[in-house]
Parts: sequence; C-alpha cells; structure tokens
Amino acid sequence: MSDLGLSVLIVGGSGGIGWALCKTLSTLPNVKVMATYRQDIPEEAKDYGEIVWLPIDVREQSQYVALVEGVIEILSETTGQPARIDWVINCVGQLSIDQELPEKNLKSIESERFVKAMQINTLPTLLLAQHLQPLLRRSAAPRFATISARVGSISDNGLGGWYSYRCSKAALNMALKNISIEWGRLMPNSCTVALHPGTTDTSLSKPFQANVPEHKLFSADKTARLLMGVLMSLQRENNGQFLAFDGSLIEW
Ligand SMILES: NC(=O)c1ccc[n+]([C@@H]2O[C@H](COP(=O)([O-])OP(=O)(O)OC[C@H]3O[C@@H](n4cnc5c(N)ncnc54)[C@H](OP(=O)(O)O)[C@@H]3O)[C@@H](O)[C@H]2O)c1
Repeated sequence: MSDLGLSVLIVGGSGGIGWALCKTLSTLPNVKVMATYRQDIPEEAKDYGEIVWLPIDVREQSQYVALVEGVIEILSETTGQPARIDWVINCVGQLSIDQELPEKNLKSIESERFVKAMQINTLPTLLLAQHLQPLLRRSAAPRFATISARVGSISDNGLGGWYSYRCSKAALNMALKNISIEWGRLMPNSCTVALHPGTTDTSLSKPFQANVPEHKLFSADKTARLLMGVLMSLQRENNGQFLAFDGSLIEW
C-alpha cells in the first residue's frame, strides 16, 4: 500500500489522442493511470502493464456506475485509503457517425445521426461529472477536461457544415462551462476546461487530412505532449476556459 502522487482517469484511452495521453502520463513518476476502452485495448498496451483498463460504452448510462466501482476498487487496492481521482480527461468523440462523413449542408441532416453525436460527444461529460464528483472532491486540486474541438466555437465558425459535430461540441462546451461554475462553488480548487487538440493524425481525422498542411497535422504523441503542458500549468483562474493545445484561449 502506498500513497498516490496523482491518480488520473483517461476516458477513451484506446483512441489516438487518449492512448498517446496514457503513454505520456505513464512515464511520469508516481502517477496512477486508469483508462477506459469500448472495443479493444491498444495492441501496444501490453508493454504498459501499469495502466489499468476499464470498459465503458459512454452511451450506456448504467455502465457509469460499474466504471466508478472499478475505479474505487483499483484505487483502494493501491493505497488502502478512500479512493480519490485528481484528473479526469475525456477523450471520447466521433466525427463520422456510423461511418457516415459529417454533413456538408442542411440536406444531409438526419435526426438519428444528430442524436448519436450528442450521445457520444456531449452527454458523457455530464454523466462522468455526475458520477465522478465524489472521487474528485477528495483531491486537493481536481482537474476535469474534455477534448472538445475548435469547430465547436460559435464565434470561430467561418466555414459552416459538420452540423452534428459542431452542435455537439458547442453543447459540450456549454456543459463544461456549467460544470465549472457548479464545481467552482463546491470545489474551489477545481479546474474544468474544454481543450482543443489541434488537427491530429488519428482515425477520426484520416478522411479530412488531404488539405491539412504537413506542419499543422500533429502526431498523437505531439498532441499529448502539448495537452499535458496545458494540463500541468492549469491554475484556478483557468476554470471554465476553452484552451487550445498551445494554452491560448479560444472564444466560445
Ligand atoms: N483528431 C483530431 O484532429 C481532432 C481534432 C479536434 C478534436 N478532436 C477530438 O479529440 C477527441 C479524441 O479523438 P481522436 O482523434 O483520438 O479519435 P479516435 O482515435 O477515433 O478516438 C476516439 C475514441 O472515442 C472512443 N469512443 C467512440 N465512441 C465511443 C462510445 N460510444 N463509448 C466509448 N468510447 C467511444 C473510441 O473508442 P473505440 O475505438 O473503442 O470506439 C476511441 O477511444 C475527440 O473528442 C475528437 O472530437 C480530434
């Protein structure tokens, strides 16, 4: 039994950015990394045996309780103390829904696809906050971040299109802002943020990389390093902000 330096939960740890964050965090001393997957744990994960994996399909409300129980069990076994989470980073997201590319215009909007985008990109952040609040409250400086996207910024929208994705990320941003206000009262040392990772070479961005200049397409490892820099430097005054990979502020 030992005390933890930092306990971190990466939701969507099996994805491109999520897995890169898991690897980066696991190289730091005294950090307990827990990560979730839906379909498969990354092939490479066997070389990182210290990362503990938990399953969740974020669309299934009943699975959040099992996730919390799993986290409590892991942390209680590790420390022998009441379970505490310091950081939650939600990296789950979908741009193409059911293999359908995002909408270019109003004509292609379909209600089922729109609702799925909200179920995957928006609602899970609220359910994670609801279920993990008791564990975050035990942290001296809780941090709660979801990977959003610059295209979810209303004031930055100059191109249009991608209706479901843009709307679900804009709604996600509102959800995070709301959480930051509620937790700002409940946990004055907490910091809740929306993060923009930059265009990153993952399965999500593959169909859209053709027109991205090489220097603007980051590897997942580079994105993880940059996002870690942002997460490490968060202060109380960053609570409720939308921050890019370089720490710059994005207008809502
Ligand atoms: N890549 C970019 O250029 C870029 C740019 C801006 C924002 N983002 C955002 O960054 C985040 C991470 O994206 P990424 O590029 O790393 O994409 P990715 O490689 O496709 O990873 C997406 C992750 O979401 C998980 N996921 C999807 N549906 C799920 C569900 N119903 N339940 C549980 N997990 C589910 C996937 O798990 P499974 O593989 O098991 O389905 C995977 O772990 C997303 O929110 C995305 O919107 C990415």
